[in-house]
Amino acid sequence: MPFLSDTLARVSPSPTVAVSQKAMELKAAGHDVIGLGAGEPDFDTPGNIKAAAIAAIEAGKTKYTAVDGIPEVKQAICAKFKRENGLDYVPSQVAVSTGGKQVLYNALLATLNPGDEVIIPAPYWVSYPDMVRLGGGTPVIVETTLEDGFRISPEALDAAITPNTKWFIFNSPSNPTGAGYSHTQLKALTDVLMRHPHVWVMTDDMYEHLAYDGFEFCTPAQVEPGLYDRTLTVNGVSKSYAMTGWRIGYAAGPERLITAMRKLQSQSTTNPCSISQWATVEALNGPQDFLAERCAVFSKRRDLVVAGLNACDGITCAVPEGAFYVYPSIAGCIGKTSAGGTVIDTDEAFATALLEEQGVAVVFGAAFGLSPYFRVSYATSDDALADACARIKTFCAALA
Ligand SMILES: Cc1ncc(COP(=O)(O)O)c(C=O)c1O
Repeated sequence: MPFLSDTLARVSPSPTVAVSQKAMELKAAGHDVIGLGAGEPDFDTPGNIKAAAIAAIEAGKTKYTAVDGIPEVKQAICAKFKRENGLDYVPSQVAVSTGGKQVLYNALLATLNPGDEVIIPAPYWVSYPDMVRLGGGTPVIVETTLEDGFRISPEALDAAITPNTKWFIFNSPSNPTGAGYSHTQLKALTDVLMRHPHVWVMTDDMYEHLAYDGFEFCTPAQVEPGLYDRTLTVNGVSKSYAMTGWRIGYAAGPERLITAMRKLQSQSTTNPCSISQWATVEALNGPQDFLAERCAVFSKRRDLVVAGLNACDGITCAVPEGAFYVYPSIAGCIGKTSAGGTVIDTDEAFATALLEEQGVAVVFGAAFGLSPYFRVSYATSDDALADACARIKTFCAALA
């Protein structure tokens, strides 16, 4: 009898681990490494949110809570959906979990049966396909291109739908590309989905507040109210409110789905951290003006990084609408050899050689399902970004 489960065998080890492991080893050995791999804002959690958490601790709000969230946080979430997305939800349609990750995981585990397909545009956030496999479903990957702005076309979506399609996972602005869908672009996709009433929509709106150049965020159930009854709208405080460590994500959708997700959560983690829930009440109900201030900083960094990367031989970098990532193509570097003698035959080889030879840690595109690219997280200081771009330029200039 094997000790490890067949379920575990369905999951592949995280391809990002190799790069981070190597970066840690080099740092520990005293090398000067610039990390552009982290998927979290470098800003601190705002003071009013921290104060709300401290007040919650002092008031003894330190016990188990309702499985899917305290009434106050569910109210704040309903108000947020109404205020920012024009979506009407009542608390029984809302689930709060330990990060957006658990929300997505609960939803997939609660609904997938063997043979069920889940459409995921690539490049994708690394966890989607593995979560689908863990849930017993089959990921159906639809590749996008740099030329199409890394956006899935309505035709490609339509072609990927089969009678077995259960979910379409949508993520705008996207990790890892930063690509965002305009109202018109999203409407073209929702029109397709309206023709396939058996397909549910899981929209991952984690980067809603990180949008630049006047890009107007929109979400499927808002763009097409006809999808309301089969859409799970997922969001969280990790990225927008710089609260990655607090572990709060939430979703709203049809009550029968939310009830199923709650059932699953009641037998795994029970409730999300009570203190973090009170912090989230303050995050969602409190002042929002810092969001625009932080966006202005991110937008400048994005411009700095895009310009820096486009100045490198063999690299082409698009200007994304949001998030804090860029996803440059290294098509012009493939087949060359680095100064250190590495043949750049894949984006993984590129990332490894860049780390070893120039001390810049990035995540290679294969990890996100689309090559030959790499992902840069620009949630770090201007100085570090400028230094990293200069090093990447040196690295590329030496390719022969
Ligand atoms: C697209 C996307 N969805 C969900 C998550 C999960 O966020 P959380 O920290 O709330 O679990 C991330 C985090 O990297 C993400 O990039």
